[in-house]
Amino acid sequence: MADEERVDAEAREDALRARMQELKEARDAVVLAHYYVAPEVQAVADYVGDSFYLAKLAKTLPQRTIVLCGVGFMGESAKLLNPEKTVLLPEPAADCPMAHMVQKRTVDDARARYGEDLAVVCYVNSTIEIKSWSDVCVTSSNAVKICAELPQHNLLFIPDQNLGRYVAEQLPQKHVILNKGYCPRHQVISAAQVVDAEEEHPDALVLAHPECTADVLAEADYIGSTAGIIAYAEQSEAREFIIVTVRGVLHELERRCAGQGKRFYFPAPQPTCINMDMVTMEKLVRCLETGAGEVRIAVDESAAERAQRALDRMLAYAARSVERDCHGTE
Ligand code: 13P
Ligand code: SF4
Repeated sequence: MADEERVDAEAREDALRARMQELKEARDAVVLAHYYVAPEVQAVADYVGDSFYLAKLAKTLPQRTIVLCGVGFMGESAKLLNPEKTVLLPEPAADCPMAHMVQKRTVDDARARYGEDLAVVCYVNSTIEIKSWSDVCVTSSNAVKICAELPQHNLLFIPDQNLGRYVAEQLPQKHVILNKGYCPRHQVISAAQVVDAEEEHPDALVLAHPECTADVLAEADYIGSTAGIIAYAEQSEAREFIIVTVRGVLHELERRCAGQGKRFYFPAPQPTCINMDMVTMEKLVRCLETGAGEVRIAVDESAAERAQRALDRMLAYAARSVERDCHGTE
């Protein structure tokens, strides 16, 4: 970018921040964004993170209104965890296809077959209704740890088969039953695309999200959530990385690794999430102006309670394992 253009862009960003600050104060609002949304939205958000961080954080914020720059299930999780607050989605039509990819029959059949020795483990990338069929939620950053701690031997993992398979590989002591859901954005990344990127950048480490298929994960030097990938790259001594997830993470990678001279590459074509891309700066400002895009819980009270319990259990398990990690007690 030429110097003049940079000055113009910075001036525009400053004006926008000032406008947003006014609107946020008027509404007593806080803006949260996922690492996959557009860089300009991440740049103006108060907090940016992965799905787990956003869910956990939403419960601790003092503001009356939470604006969630992400897809539908993220807004629903924030609302479930904070029923008394107003949760706004700048683009309510931004949905996650995987969030719907399991049928009730799959859950009922597994419960009938394994009874008490079954836990239904639900990736947070799921609708409230699906969460309400489940015993505990997980995210890509805590799925292995939480599944390891569950007392049940049999785990039905819904909806993502790729994260479920990854969990099963890490926990051979458990019997993990897979469901056929998948993230369409990660599913289409092929091992051949990753190998091509490795051939082009032979010194680069491959960092991949567990929503990728098994043959892609077989190429990876590190597998983790978006937050895990970013933290790994920041702390690594390596200089080059092939990032195998949605390209939105580049904004935070560059911000956190600024001055380290690190280089980031993606498999070609660069993975994008059309759903996350629907969340734009204009829509964020409009929702702060008008209050449009309010999340409503579209299930009955008892289903909402069960879904909330599954999310709360995730937070409780995660808090326990963080405590153990910090204090070294087993
Ligand atoms: P997380 O790393 O936040 O789990 O991202 C995965 C994802 O697909 C969010 O939609
Ligand atoms: Fe859903 Fe995949 Fe997009 Fe995440 S990246 S929101 S899982 S479609």
